[in-house]
Amino acid sequence: MCGIIGFTGGRNAAGVLLDGLAELEYRGYDSAGISCFTQNGITTVKTVGKVANLKACLPPGLNSSCGIGHTRWATHGGVSQTNAHPHTCGRVTLIHNGIIENYLALREELEKTGRTPVSQTDSEIAAMLIDSLYDGDAQAAIRAAAARLEGAYAFCILFADQPGTIYCIRKGSPLVACHCEAGSIIASDMVALLRYSKDYFVLEENQIARLNADGIALTGADGTPSFPDYQTVTWDVSSAQKNGFKHYMEKEIHEQPEALSRTITPRIIKYHENGAVYTLPDFSADCIPDSVFQKLSRIIITACGTAMHAGMMGKVLFERLLRIPVTVDIASEFRYQDPILDENTLVITVSQSGETADTLAALRLARSAGARTLSIVNVKGSSIARESEHVFYTHAGPEIAVASTKAYTAQLAAFYLIAFRAAFANGRLTAAECSARTDGLLSMIPSIHRVLEMKEVTEKLSRHLTRASDLFFIGRGMDYALSCEGSIKLKEISYIHSEAYAAGELKHGTLSLITADVPVIALATQHDVLPKMVSNIKEVRARGAFVILVTAADAVVEESQYDYRIDLPATDDWFAPFAAAVVLQLIAYHTSYLRGLDVDQPRHLAKSVTVE
Ligand code: G6P
Repeated sequence: MCGIIGFTGGRNAAGVLLDGLAELEYRGYDSAGISCFTQNGITTVKTVGKVANLKACLPPGLNSSCGIGHTRWATHGGVSQTNAHPHTCGRVTLIHNGIIENYLALREELEKTGRTPVSQTDSEIAAMLIDSLYDGDAQAAIRAAAARLEGAYAFCILFADQPGTIYCIRKGSPLVACHCEAGSIIASDMVALLRYSKDYFVLEENQIARLNADGIALTGADGTPSFPDYQTVTWDVSSAQKNGFKHYMEKEIHEQPEALSRTITPRIIKYHENGAVYTLPDFSADCIPDSVFQKLSRIIITACGTAMHAGMMGKVLFERLLRIPVTVDIASEFRYQDPILDENTLVITVSQSGETADTLAALRLARSAGARTLSIVNVKGSSIARESEHVFYTHAGPEIAVASTKAYTAQLAAFYLIAFRAAFANGRLTAAECSARTDGLLSMIPSIHRVLEMKEVTEKLSRHLTRASDLFFIGRGMDYALSCEGSIKLKEISYIHSEAYAAGELKHGTLSLITADVPVIALATQHDVLPKMVSNIKEVRARGAFVILVTAADAVVEESQYDYRIDLPATDDWFAPFAAAVVLQLIAYHTSYLRGLDVDQPRHLAKSVTVE
């Protein structure tokens, strides 16, 4: 949700900023801009559209060694050049990621001092506020402004009378930074730093960072200097590039076998009991003790979007194995339900980015109410990871496409591992039973390779979907959880309206929307509910639906009941959702591509949603 970057050092700042913005573009892409110190003061260039448009607008020979850049996802004010960042007021030029909730009150107050905003943004008001408080001491002005601002922000700020220096502060929105051979660099996400350094640190909330070419100085809220806690990423720059694939999404779909291995294998141990050796999940290296899963009265899973759909699968697994109640809550609703939380409640938050504002708010509420907290997160050092009592990193690697793929299956794998370990820790699975399930999970990985070879089939059937205006996904149990994910994947990148329905519920209203040729993707991967699913498929077929059946190779379904059938590689039903998820991702991918759409950056969306 808006990508921001600042650079000061020994290279051409405009080049560094444009490269970084291209990496950050997945965070928002409706407009972009940069401001750089030049011989003539601060030069700002901004434009509507993507970073490529911005590049085309830059004056030739823009010579600078220090500047800031922004790629926007509009919150306050429409998509226009005026509303694009950076915003300047007096001596202050800034870029912002977040939302200033009290900006209207501040605007009224600042207008009385003779300052008139030119944009409709909350961000310009922040620039006005800092300018109104600036008397040559940048840190004092930033601190005083921060005390007045309500909401979330990450700012990179230039003061016209301090060339070569960038000041930064954050609350709620992410910022990571490093000082390296090229200079000092700060951005919303590590991917923008990666071509310069694998080492980075997370700016603490309320710390002020002062970036100069020769280093980064940090000052804590009490004014005392502090020192960065550097971390190292394990992936390299190619992990965040397309590597020969047409789109990031396609690449990330193909990375799933590797990503799943990284999630699962480091957590597998050999366990000895009565002379036998078992394969069990173990989270000692994650510092997650079994006690987190013991004496629990309930589990609440809360997340947004795809991460929440992974949580729906988690619910099925936990309830089956632990026999305690599990609820899945949309994170943006969680706080308003006045949830019942105590020390015997485990709240699991799930987030690829680890920065989703609503999920972070849900986590904070859970912690303040004394619940146990565990987060399943992909991005190391992200806010949710840092604020959660326990963290399970999925290690899926950087995910750039807005539509989540490998992060989702890695989240599923995390839930399987956690459910197996928790069941073992509670005596609900013996070592032998837990070992058999864990082996099943491991042997699921090769099945993903086989699905990836089905490209032609999924592409062919996607041709039938490109002209659809409505589409339905149906399933039962695990397949219902998967339907929800299949549906969001398809609609977010193909712009075809789609809905996921519990197959048995269709007849209570929605069946009226099934008419001739409406595509229905029926998921029937679970043998225990297969007869019931077949009945539901017949119901839609009888209304003329165009049925795509995704099922097990041995499932007996009359040929007349479907138009396309995709047989999943043989696996235990427990693990079939993985292969089926990849089938659905491929269908969404091909449908979007065949419709000529922007697969990686669908309209109106952003990958990291750091506003509530
Ligand atoms: C956005 C993304 C989704 C993602 C959701 C939650 O909507 O487009 O792909 O599932 O945010 O993000 P998180 O980073 O918390 O998993």
